[in-house]
Amino acid sequence: MADFKEISPDAPAGAKLMNWVDNRFPATKMFKEHLSEYYAPKNLNIWYVFGALSLLVLVIQIVTGIFLTMNYKPDAALAFGSVEYIMRDVPWGWLIRYMHSTGASAFFIVVYLHMFRGLIYGSYRKPRELVWVFGCAIFLALMAEAFMGYLLPWGQMSYWGAQVIVNLFAAIPFVGPDLALLIRGDYVVGDATLNRFFAFHVIAVPLVLLGLVVAHIIALHEVGSNNPDGVEIKAKKDADGKPLDGIAFHPFYTVHDIFGVSVFLLVFSAVVFFAPEAGGYFLEYNNFIPADPLKTPSHIAPVWYFTPFYSMLRAITTEMMYVLVLCVALAAVLAVMKGGLNSLFKGVVAVGAVLVCLVMLSIDAKFWGVVVMGGAVIILFFLPWLDNSPVKSIRYRPSWNKWLYALFVLNFLVLGYLGIKPPSPINERVSQIGTLFYFGFFLLMPWWSRLGSFKPVPDRVNFSAH
Ligand code: HEM
Repeated sequence: MADFKEISPDAPAGAKLMNWVDNRFPATKMFKEHLSEYYAPKNLNIWYVFGALSLLVLVIQIVTGIFLTMNYKPDAALAFGSVEYIMRDVPWGWLIRYMHSTGASAFFIVVYLHMFRGLIYGSYRKPRELVWVFGCAIFLALMAEAFMGYLLPWGQMSYWGAQVIVNLFAAIPFVGPDLALLIRGDYVVGDATLNRFFAFHVIAVPLVLLGLVVAHIIALHEVGSNNPDGVEIKAKKDADGKPLDGIAFHPFYTVHDIFGVSVFLLVFSAVVFFAPEAGGYFLEYNNFIPADPLKTPSHIAPVWYFTPFYSMLRAITTEMMYVLVLCVALAAVLAVMKGGLNSLFKGVVAVGAVLVCLVMLSIDAKFWGVVVMGGAVIILFFLPWLDNSPVKSIRYRPSWNKWLYALFVLNFLVLGYLGIKPPSPINERVSQIGTLFYFGFFLLMPWWSRLGSFKPVPDRVNFSAH
């Protein structure tokens, strides 16, 4: 039998109950390990609230999702009507539905801000590579979850958006058409598609998401949080082994996060109650029209959080392929001239580059658009190994880095804006430049992240009590 901890018979009932539980389940031990004795850097700022907010939105989505499922019908003939029924007849149904639809956009807002924080403070660098990699997997799962959820109301945008995106898979050489058929379960998006997307949206992907979030937090608590100075607080500990610059997560950061949660809920409620469509950005107007397989809307655009990636997809035209081939050729010439390779490897690089260029030109640009769109997310996984800067945080990087990061954000927003708009020659050109900049930022990072003069990183974090 396990070592049972005894407690005085005169102890309060609550303490006795806790002792009984602790002898069977490590409740107090876990509370200490992850909250009251988990030491986080004392200089965390407002950027550090978005992890907790992502958790909150995850819970909102799961809870509202469960209640929506009670009245939703995953049937092409009934789905649209069942959503209308939820909105009009189910008690509080409108609130549950608006919380869920606003929650989807809120999820992406807080996650994008959370990722940006990681980017500027170098939180993806050693020893937090896995925290980042799990984060990127969460982002992928979140995109899949949002995409499949959007089909469920069975409105015009649900239907045609899914049609456009699933058809993209058909552009993959050899296996594409069969793959698209497998995803749809039919030759066009139909009842079978709705059923399988429902299954994925309500159970399969949420399970994966939850598992990944647990892994993300376990990995974070293993290595400890980074902070705006990028200083490892575990390097300086007191006699008890507690980091000198650490403070207990509970109560200090629980209070910090409760404040963040309150502000978030104010804004969230304002949107839910006063502008749930958010001008057509959170709920597209065309989606209030039932899906009609015989009538394609004149302009199909995904929801705002997908549009930067959608722009990159549309940017890849046959003309753009020549530019990409030129980039590959240039990279090969640079590798041959400056890579310090022996003549055998130079030959391999040259032949390899010619082959890659030939393959690039022989497959339809539409396929490369899909590759670029997927690559724009996949490249994030490699960030920890692309950054060669001697310091983590932007605070100690050369000042021009701030401009570069600002440009990166601006570029992402412009791509997002262009993805909402109907295609036009000027939009196409700007998204092509934007796509080159997006990939250039990451692919050239091993080079530019080493350039310039770095400021000395302090031994201890910067913190002034307020
Ligand atoms: C459902 C989505 C997510 C949830 C619930 C979540 C949750 C959290 C929480 C609670 C923290 C600790 C508090 C904080 O640092 O803000 C954290 C840290 C972190 N997350 Fe996430 N996260 C999510 C998505 C992501 C994504 C998509 C990425 C990146 C691609 C990411 C990267 C990170 C990194 C690098 C840290 C450590 C930050 C540091 O120590 O400076 N997370 N996450």
